[in-house]
Parts: sequence; structure tokens; C-alpha cells
Amino acid sequence: MERLICLAIGYVCGLFQTGYLVGKMNHIDIRQKGSGNAGSTNALRVMGWKAGLMTFAGDVLKCVIAILIVRYIYDGSQWLPLLAMYAGAGTTLGHNFPFYLKFKGGKGIAVLAGLVISTKIWMAPIPLAAFLIAVIFTRYISLGSLLAYSMFFLEVVVCGQLGCFEMKAAYLYELYILLFALTCLAWYRHKDNIKRLMAGTENKFGSKKKE
Ligand code: G3P
Repeated sequence: MERLICLAIGYVCGLFQTGYLVGKMNHIDIRQKGSGNAGSTNALRVMGWKAGLMTFAGDVLKCVIAILIVRYIYDGSQWLPLLAMYAGAGTTLGHNFPFYLKFKGGKGIAVLAGLVISTKIWMAPIPLAAFLIAVIFTRYISLGSLLAYSMFFLEVVVCGQLGCFEMKAAYLYELYILLFALTCLAWYRHKDNIKRLMAGTENKFGSKKKE
């Protein structure tokens, strides 16, 4: 039951569609422009730096808020780290599949940043480095995002197996499964980006705005 409550709290927070709202403030539907994604990369691409940063900040913050609420409710619980991950998973679902926008939202990368910041910030350097290296060398934000997501999953598994988390084994394996599912979802949400990457037609960071 607690898992469902945390998923629901996250889902409700994730419904705050920063990219869509920033788009509306600029009199556009972000989902009709650029890559059609309601995330910060597309906000940056279509509306510029300010809009991109606002969208990123809002999407990070909603995950932080969801996790803070869960921490407040389940303060002292020994499986709080797992419940926090459920809140992050719920936020990702609300962000990616907002019911009131016909389930057409973002891809969950800024939400992952919020999840890492609020749960395991000491693990941030490796996914961040993977992201930066990929973007600096290829200028593909989508590739950097997928590498960062996957590196975070691998890092959690390695650290978990090395005994870095004080969690019961059953909760630890549940954490791996949940994070694996989120990583698969991120790859699924990037399926069009992957096709474009393979065809060599993916949008590059800093290239001209697309209508
Ligand atoms: O965070 C989403 C990013 O990885 C790709 O965005 O707009 O290029 O599909 P976009």
C-alpha cells in the first residue's frame, strides 16, 4: 500500500508540466514544435536558454518535492530509500504520461536529476560525467541522457552489491528492479531519438531551431 501511495504522490507532482506551461507562456504548444517533446532539451531548442533552464528547474523540483513529501510522511521508516525511489518513479510516470495532455509528456531525464539530487547525490558525478562527455564529444543530448540514466542504474547496482546502502536484501533487489524498469522506460521514450541517432539525423545541441 505504501508503495502505491508513494507512486501516487509522485504521479500527482509529475503532472506539473513545466515545459508545456513555459510553452504556453510563449504562446506555443511545445509538443507541436522541435522534437515534440515537452522537456527541457526541446524547450531550450525551441524557446531558448531561459525557457530551457526554467523547464529543467521545474522538472527537477517537482521530483524533489515528491520525495520530500514521502520523506515527511514516512520519516523513520527503514525502507524510506525504497519509498523515495517509488516517489521518483511516480513523478517520472506523471511527467511522461500526464493524463490531461493525452498522456503526451516528457522523457523523464530532468526528473531523474531530481531523483539523484534528493536520494543519492554522492552518486551524481558518474552519470553527470557520462552526460557531459557524450554531449561535449557528440553534441547529442539524447545520447548523453541515455548514458547518464544507464550509468546511474549500474552505479546503484554496483554500490548496492558492495554494501553501500543499509537496506534489507529484499528491498535492495526491489530497488534494482524498479530502477531497471525506469531505465528501460527512458530508452523506450527515446526510441525516436535512437532511430535518428542510428540514421545520423538526430538533433545536435546548438544546431538551428526547428519549427
Ligand atoms: O531529455 C530529453 C532528451 O534526452 C532528448 O530530447 O527533445 O531531443 O527528444 P529531444
